[in-house]
Amino acid sequence: MKFLILNGPNLNLLGTREKSIYGEHTLDTINACIDIFAQQAGHEVSFAQSNVEGELVDLIQEASGSYDGIVINPAAYTHTSVAIRDAILAIDLPVVEVHLSVPSGREDFRQVNMLADVVVGRVEGFGGDGYTLALQGLIRHLEESKA
Ligand code: DQA
Repeated sequence: MKFLILNGPNLNLLGTREKSIYGEHTLDTINACIDIFAQQAGHEVSFAQSNVEGELVDLIQEASGSYDGIVINPAAYTHTSVAIRDAILAIDLPVVEVHLSVPSGREDFRQVNMLADVVVGRVEGFGGDGYTLALQGLIRHLEESKA
């Protein structure tokens, strides 16, 4: 199967950004680990990151037909974006949400999650490992839905 790993705003700065919250690993390092996991599991992954809400919407729309599912860390747009929510609802692909931190344990404004009821699952609090865990869950979800 083929999966899109999508990252939202400021995640290009992983490795230097608020390291006490988001850890030391860069996005490239995290993506390399996801790629190794996917290859070993016999699947294919592509990676995209954007700081722009509309570009993330475009990438979600374009994923339909080209991928079997999406792993997304929408970053700050988790808490604000009706557009990303609607894009997920508009396509017929399972989406799993990832957060490096645990947003529900942080500031009040992070308690709102626009995607909570439109994703098939969420992994949070495991740093960069969360992406691979999310991909594992997504693969299992798809295998079970085909069985
Ligand atoms: C984040 C959590 C969000 O609240 C925040 O805006 C981010 C990163 C995470 O991975 O923990 O940018 O999605």
